[in-house]
Amino acid sequence: MTSYISAAYLASVILFILSIRGLAHPATARHGNILGFIGISLAVLATFFMPEVHDYFWTFFMILTGGCLGLFFAFRVKMTSLPQMIAAFNGLGGLASVFIAGAEILSGTPTKFESSLGLIIGAIAFSGSVIAFAKLQGLISPKAFVFRGQQILNLLLALGIISSCSLFLLSGDIKYFYILSLLSLIIGFLVTLPIGGADMPVIISVLNAYSGWAAVSIGFSLNNILLIIVGTIVGGSGTFLSHAMTKAMNRSLLNVILGGFGLKDQKQATANEQTAQTATPQDAAFLMENANKVIIVPGYGMAVAQAQHILKEMAEDLQKLYGVEVKFAIHPVAGRMPGHMNVLLAEANIPYEDVYELEQINREFSTADVAYVIGANDITNPLARTDSSSPIFGMPILEVEKAKTVFFVKRSLGSGYAGVENPLFFAPNTLMLYGDAKDVTEQIVENLEHK
Ligand code: TAP
Repeated sequence: MTSYISAAYLASVILFILSIRGLAHPATARHGNILGFIGISLAVLATFFMPEVHDYFWTFFMILTGGCLGLFFAFRVKMTSLPQMIAAFNGLGGLASVFIAGAEILSGTPTKFESSLGLIIGAIAFSGSVIAFAKLQGLISPKAFVFRGQQILNLLLALGIISSCSLFLLSGDIKYFYILSLLSLIIGFLVTLPIGGADMPVIISVLNAYSGWAAVSIGFSLNNILLIIVGTIVGGSGTFLSHAMTKAMNRSLLNVILGGFGLKDQKQATANEQTAQTATPQDAAFLMENANKVIIVPGYGMAVAQAQHILKEMAEDLQKLYGVEVKFAIHPVAGRMPGHMNVLLAEANIPYEDVYELEQINREFSTADVAYVIGANDITNPLARTDSSSPIFGMPILEVEKAKTVFFVKRSLGSGYAGVENPLFFAPNTLMLYGDAKDVTEQIVENLEHK
């Protein structure tokens, strides 16, 4: 039987790797998702046949309860709340590692070191995710929270974790294990509190990596090869993603983890709508239908308004009715989660070949007649290049201001996620189109189609 289980685990691992490969491109993402689903189902099924599994009723009951809760939340979650959902999943992954480590240690496992490591990383992933969830859900202030001596306190806690872990491993005294659990939970809270603003997605990805590495330690403790490999895939991909995101924001991981982003007093957008030039959807339709090239820049507001479908209609009208060249520009941190805009544009069946990454499209803005910036703000803010005191300084931006005319579709002159004023709103070639992204685009489409 064990050889069948090993074969099933091997097949699951291959399916997971193929799944990740599929998920790397929008065209194959759905397929990748299905392969991952088959892989995990196979792994769970095979585990039922392990000699260690006796209590089928409780095992099945727990899987059913967890599965139903997961389904319930997955169906209800809004696209804009996905980061919270991921935070919750990371936290539950970490908590599962904590419980398994605890159970192993209380049952007198010989693999105390691996279990303790799984416990430490899992506890940090859990408590860190609780704070991340609370910040993203608006239960506590999303801002960075720092206090004097925070780094020193964290250092002391880290030393406390090393000492209690060493004492536990040397003496086997369970009280050191409880102290270790408590300190690991506290440090998880404390390292996530000082992170805020635009750094939240990075910390979600870091916590995701932690939950993977915790699973690896538990895999060693249980001598379960599948957990080791899958944990490595999760830990490794989370680590790479964190690195890629910090690179896209021109920050270092250490800089993010030390926290305090956006704490300096920023000049807030002074909602003085008189000073920015405004336009109507009719003006926008007129300018775009007479353009040679239009570049559309979607951002968080497009996701909130769910304007992707009408945006596709606008692009098609421009292309088919007026022969305009239309391209979509995607910033790596547009929206609120990695790949947020790609997912929405794919959902609206916008052809992948019309969608361009930042490096590819930036050289094209100078040849565009119109940049149609819809619900985006920070990712176009030139202060990221010019103001070294700005919290977004160093983040590569989409250089929309190089287009002949820039339309900003948003409801006000309000700031974006980073809370920084965008001087582009007042530029001579900028026209503000005030309103909900979907409503404004609908009105433009009406104008394009009824002429
Ligand atoms: P933001 O800078 O957050 O700007 C979005 C703009 O959309 C806001 O200024 C808002 O202006 C407008 N808006 C909101 N609802 C709207 C609606 N219904 N219709 C029209 N406009 C609406 O977004 P961005 O440019 O996409 O930049 C993303 C920011 O989020 C970056 O700072 C990034 O670092 C951060 N972040 C990214 C991620 C990832 S991984 N993608 C995760 C978390 C945070 P009004 O209120 O005036 O309408």
